[in-house]
Amino acid sequence: MPRVTFVDQGKAADFPAGRTLLSIAIEMGVVISHVCGGDGACGTCRIEVVEGAENLTPPNPEETYKEIEAPHRLSCQARLLGDVVVKVAKID
Ligand code: FES
Repeated sequence: MPRVTFVDQGKAADFPAGRTLLSIAIEMGVVISHVCGGDGACGTCRIEVVEGAENLTPPNPEETYKEIEAPHRLSCQARLLGDVVVKVAKID
């Protein structure tokens, strides 16, 4: 199973492919804002991808419309395909 590492939190765990990073973060006890509840509408659930950007599903229209650009992704839209190392993005 793919491994997800939140490098800023010192947490790592294995999850089945296809899960969203937001659902994984919540299960791991990582605090990440998700004002719209994972609908891709609010943009608050941003994460920074440190390694393994190619191991996430490609950005979908919700992300491109909001001009979310690498290394950032919306964690509620990005689904796991393989190992990734991420951090919770700071929102200015
Ligand atoms: S939770 Fe709102 S965009 Fe991801």
